Amino acid sequence: MTGPMDRWHDLAGVRTGVRRVFHEEAEAGRVFFPERLVPYLSHEAVRELPDERRQELTVRHLYQFLLSTAHLETRVVNRGAELIANGRSGIELPPASRLAAFKVYCDEGYHALYSLDLADQIGAVTRVAVPGWDYGGFVGQLADAAAMTLPDHPRLAVLLQVVVFETLITAVLHEIPNDDTVVGAVRETVRDHALDEGRHHRYFTGFFHELWRQLDEPIRARVAFALPALIRGCLLWDVEPVRSSLRLAGLDDSTATAVVRDCYGGDAGDERIRAICRASLRMCESAGVFAVPGAVEQFAAHGLIDGSAP
Ligand SMILES: [Fe+2]
Ligand SMILES: [Fe+2]
Repeated sequence: MTGPMDRWHDLAGVRTGVRRVFHEEAEAGRVFFPERLVPYLSHEAVRELPDERRQELTVRHLYQFLLSTAHLETRVVNRGAELIANGRSGIELPPASRLAAFKVYCDEGYHALYSLDLADQIGAVTRVAVPGWDYGGFVGQLADAAAMTLPDHPRLAVLLQVVVFETLITAVLHEIPNDDTVVGAVRETVRDHALDEGRHHRYFTGFFHELWRQLDEPIRARVAFALPALIRGCLLWDVEPVRSSLRLAGLDDSTATAVVRDCYGGDAGDERIRAICRASLRMCESAGVFAVPGAVEQFAAHGLIDGSAP
């Protein structure tokens, strides 16, 4: 049987890719991040800012995207990849599957490297400083969510978070490479990343099917009920860097807080969340998660499906 990571030595970005370089002269008129994906740019308090401040906000939004990628890959995804690779996941897997997890581990380290590399290059050229955001809050929140959701099975919760990230990241990455309003080096970097993540997506879908098969009935029910909250937790946009970026653009503290509340509070972004987690939901469906009594209702209560069908 062939697996999605079998041709890794010939296909992976870390094995065959080139370093993406930002050339400012070729990029006049382009944006650093798709403006439709920076919700606060259309907020009235931000619309009034001078063009230069608004461009800096977009550059810092890109930094947040790149830096959060670096942190999540190395501090969340690779934590789970390591468990699988070293045979510590609690799931019985053939050696090829463990080798594949080490391939994922290498890929994610490389994705973190080129994300920070690109942020650094753009910072040097645009002179928009790369802020020292450390994502401790977000990574801590994920760890708390894992510990709270399945307190008796902390390792299982970590693995589920990784499966969720790895099945929804492809949709996030596909939002950027085809947008020709965006600077080339950003699109190329995200395209490179999406190619690797397509393979990871298939690997983790297979891993989840195997995990589900090996769980006994009572744990399956607990996992089915835990998944909606874990999915939503993975899709929360970390608002602290946004608030910090708005302050750097000159907004006072209370205005920055109000903009964040208007653009990220309540059900803002719910539609996008549903679109992005579609592949993760398909994986749940094909594994049999929705066959657990009450699971569909639980997913609906978290706003991920409409209540009748996934
Ligand atoms: Fe990655
Ligand atoms: Fe990945």
